[in-house]
Amino acid sequence: MTDVPFPNVPREDARQKVCGAPIFGADSPRPGLLHAALAVSTIPKGRILDIDTLAASATPGVRQVLTHQDLADLQLPGFLLGGYGFQNFQPLRSPDIAYRGQPIAVVVADTFEAATEAAALVRATYAAEAFCPTIDSPGVDIVDQADTPMGQFLTEPVAADADAAFAAAPIKVDIELKCPAQHQNPIELIATVAEWEGDTLIVHEGTQNAEGVRHGLARVLGIPAGQVEVISPFVGGGFGQKNSLQMQTALAAAASRRAGAPVKLVVPRTQLFQGASFRPASRHHVRLGADVSGTLLAAIHETDAQSSRIDFFPGEYAATSARLYGWSAFRGLHRLIRTDTQTPGFMRAPFEHPACFAMETAMDELAYAIGMDPVDLRLANDTILDPITKRPFSSRHAGTCLRRGAERFGWQARSAEPRSMRSADGSFVGWGVALGAYPGMMVSNVVRLTANSDGGVEIAMGAHEMGQGMRSVIAAVAGRKLRISPGAVTVVIGDTRAALQQPTAGSWGSASAALAIEAAADAMWKALAKLTPDGVVEGRSPSEILKAAARDSLDVETMVKPPGQPDDVFGLLRSGLVSRAGPVFDDCVSFSFIAHFVEVHVEPRLRRIRVPRVVSVADCGRVISPRTALSQVRGGVVWGIGAALREASETDPRYGGFLNADLAEYAIPVNADIGRIDVEFIDEPDGLLESGVKSLGEVSLCGVAPAIANAVFHATGRRLRELPIRIEHVM
Ligand code: MOS
Repeated sequence: MTDVPFPNVPREDARQKVCGAPIFGADSPRPGLLHAALAVSTIPKGRILDIDTLAASATPGVRQVLTHQDLADLQLPGFLLGGYGFQNFQPLRSPDIAYRGQPIAVVVADTFEAATEAAALVRATYAAEAFCPTIDSPGVDIVDQADTPMGQFLTEPVAADADAAFAAAPIKVDIELKCPAQHQNPIELIATVAEWEGDTLIVHEGTQNAEGVRHGLARVLGIPAGQVEVISPFVGGGFGQKNSLQMQTALAAAASRRAGAPVKLVVPRTQLFQGASFRPASRHHVRLGADVSGTLLAAIHETDAQSSRIDFFPGEYAATSARLYGWSAFRGLHRLIRTDTQTPGFMRAPFEHPACFAMETAMDELAYAIGMDPVDLRLANDTILDPITKRPFSSRHAGTCLRRGAERFGWQARSAEPRSMRSADGSFVGWGVALGAYPGMMVSNVVRLTANSDGGVEIAMGAHEMGQGMRSVIAAVAGRKLRISPGAVTVVIGDTRAALQQPTAGSWGSASAALAIEAAADAMWKALAKLTPDGVVEGRSPSEILKAAARDSLDVETMVKPPGQPDDVFGLLRSGLVSRAGPVFDDCVSFSFIAHFVEVHVEPRLRRIRVPRVVSVADCGRVISPRTALSQVRGGVVWGIGAALREASETDPRYGGFLNADLAEYAIPVNADIGRIDVEFIDEPDGLLESGVKSLGEVSLCGVAPAIANAVFHATGRRLRELPIRIEHVM
């Protein structure tokens, strides 16, 4: 157990970053590089009758224009869980149109400009069909998740008879809430440089899942996975959008093979909205029952979430809301609504953020129904036992987060009555609180560790740096275990040539890396001990031992499996299949928690909503990289401000697709929207791992939106149960 906090050192890649050294996938320079652009469908559902590529082909500089008539031999990437694509769909395999914005042609040209111009000249005629663009469309299909292929992987969380307990409860809250579709917008667009060296395909692409891209491409192109290498050392933001094979990657590879030259395909922002994954819209029905003293007796959380017609993107909303408090009875239910869109996918805290919005809004309503302080109600229902499995949490400091946050924020000065607090400029002031939770997950890994006699250490393993601080975490853990400076560690990740790659997602990066590196470092010390005359390594550094033994370097390779993972996990990993990452513990349940306290100001005339300050206290176990952890929480709070007050992907039911498909019309928070974000970590090691680490990245966003919505209620007396909250809702 690590009983000393990690020091606050600079990012491992800080110098590289400020020097502009990291090369992102699509920026890889290649001699003779050609440029590709996509033409996309202008209807949301139907079939291409005829496609006219003559004008596009005649554009100066154009090398080739590929349509479904050329690429019908492409295969499907496989179904979502255990597959490689975020959707089991490959554009240009057939003339069928499943969503507006689906690629219908790839144009390859000498320049980006020629490819873009020619793509706009591709003309298709369609047989259009009736479609259901949104979860509110008349006649849209709704299915129980349990009856879909996803039902075998996911069970509904249930404890006791929640319906009976709710019916008997003296105080009830029974509300419906709504969250919109949203699109993550990483600064690095989804983009590919594909190049063939003989029969081997080399792909440079920003991805959170190099192995998944490798195996997905192999399947779609019908070639052995050993003939595909994926290189992704730095990613310009992922947020779940880049956690599997993208729709453009096989197109770039196929175009490159035909052109006999490397091809670069950058998907423009608008096409990213139309073809990449997104957060599904969801509706939530929450019922809470309590007694007059504020003891929770029952909770029911039913979710209807958007999926596509071509696939089922599963929901696990209640798996998190069930863990917020110690209710004696709980029931969760998930239904999927099949819209004619691209398949939604994982977007930062994909289920946990909407689940916390629903449950923590209901908790605030319950506090007012009982006449109890919202912090006191939450503290009164804190628990050390998971209400679903009755197992203990691996660690849980939710109550401490609430108490410390309340103190830091000055919560005791709050007057409970809505519209009772004003700022100096006359704005209505609202103070709101909410709790967030996110599951602790881990994946297996294969680590190759090399110690050199010059004092340097190299680590090659499966992980990806999306800016979140993966490299810094790896260097910090290795540095501590090997008694060297983190700066002496060279980190090689995101490269299928260097090591088997695991997807970096689900906030499992730090815990998984720490587990793997600690085991690898132990193996390294054992191997080093064999090089010493006395077997003693204490007080010696790896380089001292190597020099004394006249060795230049020493290599160890370690396979590390978290508890509860299947025995064949490394076989699955080698075949590119993601094993379920959690929950993986037999005797406990692991979740991270965070408490957010928010102040909003609502201007009396214009009703603009501002968030001048947020206090967030996180329970994520031991913090390995304080600097990048702080950034994660600040980023999560900014995402929460966006979710509460700005972001929604809009659909016109007449046309389908997503309309506000650029950063001018898809509103995200800017600096003027963001005030002071004050972050504290409990920094108590979790007992499960030597490192004491739990998940952090995504829990940061969980609970921000309901804290803001609850603060808006406190400021205005308006209870708003649909996100985002905009000026017109508080007029
Ligand atoms: Mo993230 S939504 O877990 O890739």
